[in-house]
Amino acid sequence: MSDSKTAAWQRIEGSPRESLTALFGGDENRVERLSGRIGWGAGEDAAGIRFDWSKTHLTDDLLGAFEELAQASDFEARRAALFAGEAINVTEGRAAEHTAQRGSGSEASVEEAQALLARMQMLVEAIREGALGDVNHLIHIGIGGSALGPALAIDALTRDLSYVDCHVVSNIDGVALEQAFATCDPATTLVAVASKTFTTIETLTNADSAMRWLSENGVSDPHGRVIALTANPEGAVEWGVDETRVLPFMESVGGRYSLWSSIGFPVALAAGWDEFAAMLEGAAAVDAHFRDTDGRDNLCLRAAFADQYYARVRGCQTRAVFAYDERLSLFPDYLQQLEMESNGKRVTSAGEPVDGPTAPITWGGVGTDAQHAVFQLLHQGTHLVPVDFIASIAPGDALDPAHHRILLTNCFAQGAALMAGGNMSADGKDPARQFPGDRPSATMLCDDLDAATLGALIAFHEHRTFANAVLMGINPFDQFGVELGKKMAKDIDGGDAEFDASTTALLAASGLG
Ligand code: F6P
Repeated sequence: MSDSKTAAWQRIEGSPRESLTALFGGDENRVERLSGRIGWGAGEDAAGIRFDWSKTHLTDDLLGAFEELAQASDFEARRAALFAGEAINVTEGRAAEHTAQRGSGSEASVEEAQALLARMQMLVEAIREGALGDVNHLIHIGIGGSALGPALAIDALTRDLSYVDCHVVSNIDGVALEQAFATCDPATTLVAVASKTFTTIETLTNADSAMRWLSENGVSDPHGRVIALTANPEGAVEWGVDETRVLPFMESVGGRYSLWSSIGFPVALAAGWDEFAAMLEGAAAVDAHFRDTDGRDNLCLRAAFADQYYARVRGCQTRAVFAYDERLSLFPDYLQQLEMESNGKRVTSAGEPVDGPTAPITWGGVGTDAQHAVFQLLHQGTHLVPVDFIASIAPGDALDPAHHRILLTNCFAQGAALMAGGNMSADGKDPARQFPGDRPSATMLCDDLDAATLGALIAFHEHRTFANAVLMGINPFDQFGVELGKKMAKDIDGGDAEFDASTTALLAASGLG
């Protein structure tokens, strides 16, 4: 670690520790100073998200020390390199150009991304106008970054109205695909095969089975019902997709950052092009904020300051996110890949061992359900877990307003209770009924949960993840950690590799040895 980073960490670690209630008590402007807003649109269409980090232990002193750490980590130069499309994914020698999909990046990449999106829009609109006959169902086959984003966005944006009945199938366990088959009419089903590499075994096996299902159910040209979403168009054509139905995307868009590319095709088809475009616009507003705002005022960087503080100084091994919005039920799953596949690393970009913990384990759920399941541990357990709350001021339902009022009051009450603690015993002496408090949380309060807001929320977490990586000195854009297990599965399938005694016995017991 450089001397300047060491000095910044020493200042962070030595910064005075006060309880959250003490921090609020001594500072009437704390909420204002530790809250910020990212907005978009104008006039009646103005909307945004309020980011309140005041219930974390960040202080002016800590923020100053973290700004020193950011400077010592070359944050501004790394951020400029990200947006310039430089090859910041050093282990794979390529750029990370998901922001180009939203209009921020090198001129050539933005142009290329826009041309590819225009091609996708044409196909989406042609399908909606009947170019491929009646389309009532879409089976979207992909895994990891080729599935989690579409699944989240479809679930969040098409609960009221969907042009097609969508099924996102990722697992190689045939149960998942059979379940989709059971509710789709083969004559009116399209299959989207989503794979950046077009080599992923789960996706190609599921795609082959989908072709067999179509063919066995009277579809004469099953491959003619496929749209391929990939950065390997040749691979898709070789597999059997007509090139007019291949929607390519740029190699420099990473799998877990690919929702904004043709991987978002099912979202555009199900929710409509305008909704997909709104998602890009919301993300673009966050890109502009992240690109143009410095120091603690940069809300993505500020969130990363808190993340680093809890992981390294307070020893928190996990971070939890609870969406008080049914439409964001899949958000924790999405964040798990984004954060853990990006920053779950043990060496720096230079290949040196990292000298502290990297990504905490991301977990979470939906409020208020989670309150009746896991909040016991958050309030009284022995782990300190920083919590993020996400909620929308506008309700997603049209029922009695009591529903949304109770939802929001519960969300805010949890943050308040975690911070303040309390004593619920009649005589004040029962330890089982005491709440220590001083447990941190942050709140993201959206004006409304629409497509632009979803795009903004996802982009906020992408940049927060990147900022964390810069502060730790690691490359968030590779994922070699998934490769060894894949290779071993192939070796087992190949039949001639030797394994440990336990694995050999498991294979024999399953009839595979
Ligand atoms: O195995 C991990 C991974 O490479 C992810 O990073 C990626 O999102 C997923 O597999 C799917 O890969 P592909 O889109 O190439 O099928």
